[in-house]
Amino acid sequence: MVVLVAVSVLLGGLVLLIAFLFGRARGESQSESTEDVKINGQTAPEKLFPKKQKLHKLRNEKPQQHTFNHPLLASVLKAHSGNITCLDFSSNGKYLATCSDDRTVRIWTTKDFLDRDHRSLRANVEFDHATHVRFSNDCRAFIVCLANGETLRMYKMTKKDDNITFSASPEDFPKRHKAPIINFGVAETGKFFMSASSDTTILVWNLKGEVLASINTNQMNNAYAAVSPCGRFVASCGFTPDVKVWEVCFAKGGVFREVCRAFDLKGHTAGVCGFAFSNDSSKMATVSKDGTWKMWNTDVEYKKQQDPYLLHTGRWSGKEPCRIALSPDARVIAISSASDITVYNAQTGEVEEEFLSVHGVVITDLAFDTGNRFLVSTGDRAVRLFHNTAGYRAAIADMNDMLKKATNKGTKERLQQQIRDAHKALNAVMKKKN
Ligand SMILES: *[C@@H]1O[C@H](CO)[C@@H](O)[C@H](O)[C@H]1NC(C)=O
Ligand SMILES: *[C@@H]1O[C@H](CO)[C@@H](O)[C@H](O)[C@H]1NC(C)=O
Ligand SMILES: *[C@@H]1O[C@H](CO)[C@@H](O)[C@H](O)[C@H]1NC(C)=O
Repeated sequence: MVVLVAVSVLLGGLVLLIAFLFGRARGESQSESTEDVKINGQTAPEKLFPKKQKLHKLRNEKPQQHTFNHPLLASVLKAHSGNITCLDFSSNGKYLATCSDDRTVRIWTTKDFLDRDHRSLRANVEFDHATHVRFSNDCRAFIVCLANGETLRMYKMTKKDDNITFSASPEDFPKRHKAPIINFGVAETGKFFMSASSDTTILVWNLKGEVLASINTNQMNNAYAAVSPCGRFVASCGFTPDVKVWEVCFAKGGVFREVCRAFDLKGHTAGVCGFAFSNDSSKMATVSKDGTWKMWNTDVEYKKQQDPYLLHTGRWSGKEPCRIALSPDARVIAISSASDITVYNAQTGEVEEEFLSVHGVVITDLAFDTGNRFLVSTGDRAVRLFHNTAGYRAAIADMNDMLKKATNKGTKERLQQQIRDAHKALNAVMKKKN
């Protein structure tokens, strides 16, 4: 009797246990299948697609009209009918170029940025569209990266009176990349172009479209690559926690010699998403998946075994995709995170401004103008310009420091005048907005 009761209790328990386990397993598999995201029929790991992004997507399925307002918004440039993927300021500061999947490049003049109307000139990209655009070093041409062609095409800009006409060169560059191009750059020296693809390849071209060198970055994949504003260096970042920098060397007569390793930026603990140079290449800012940004002094003679050194580490939201911009004077860092932008003082790391939901989609490009006056961002059909008030404040603080140390009367007077001018500029921006 006792044995029978024990067996039946045991059996009952077993049935309950099985039912419980089965139910749990089913529950789990159900909740999992609702979270699946499929790309090209393959299930993507959930990490790549955090739930938040899905909400964003839904919100963005509303028609194009994204409204955004902020007291520091200086202007909105509108003319494109498709998403803008890249922007570039000419080195003479006169023009801004934008390209879009609407198959056009637009050239804007910076001098009318604060006017009510913004004139732009249109160049059509025949049989393709541009993913990236860069001005040539002499500002008389621009070069685009073709989305489908996966190579470069050059356009001459011919100025006649107040008009500019564009003509594409008769032949595109040969197709040499085996993966999509993620960025390209023009050396200010006019000696080479650089293009980087999403594998580990960087190509160095001469202006005729001949490949001078192919670099293997050995970083698993390239996340970003750029030419330094001085035109000496090419740098890249990717899956590994370091930024690698090479020098593109030419002999005295301008003949290409070699590409050699210059230095690395080491200190991040996870992949680096992007970086930016100051206008004289003496500083660099980096942003990483480890949740930090770093500011570096790169004004070193690497041939004498000097290493770049860390100036400051700050924290950012860590929400990708992100981009980083450094003001030409190296005083301000801006980081975009999805469609938000945070502006930091590059020296103290303090948050100076936050702009939320600036574009209807993820921000695709972010830059400061050559005069440190504006921060510009894009992603949808519009370019938004912000007054760089953080830059004015940082410049005033710097000049006050210099004034304290100055002993020469002429220097003091010059600094006092510059401080007054900077205050005036800042007040003008703030007054207009109140
Ligand atoms: C712009 O990009 C968003 C998000 O990537 C996309 O949903 C939308 O269709 C694009 N718009 C155009 C006009 O291509
Ligand atoms: C610029 O050129 C276009 C096309 O050639 C012409 O229609 C337009 O009137 C010109 N504008 C100016 C200001 O010269
Ligand atoms: C860099 O910017 C500073 C400050 O805006 C400017 O004075 C300087 O001429 C610029 N240098 C170069 C190489 O463009």
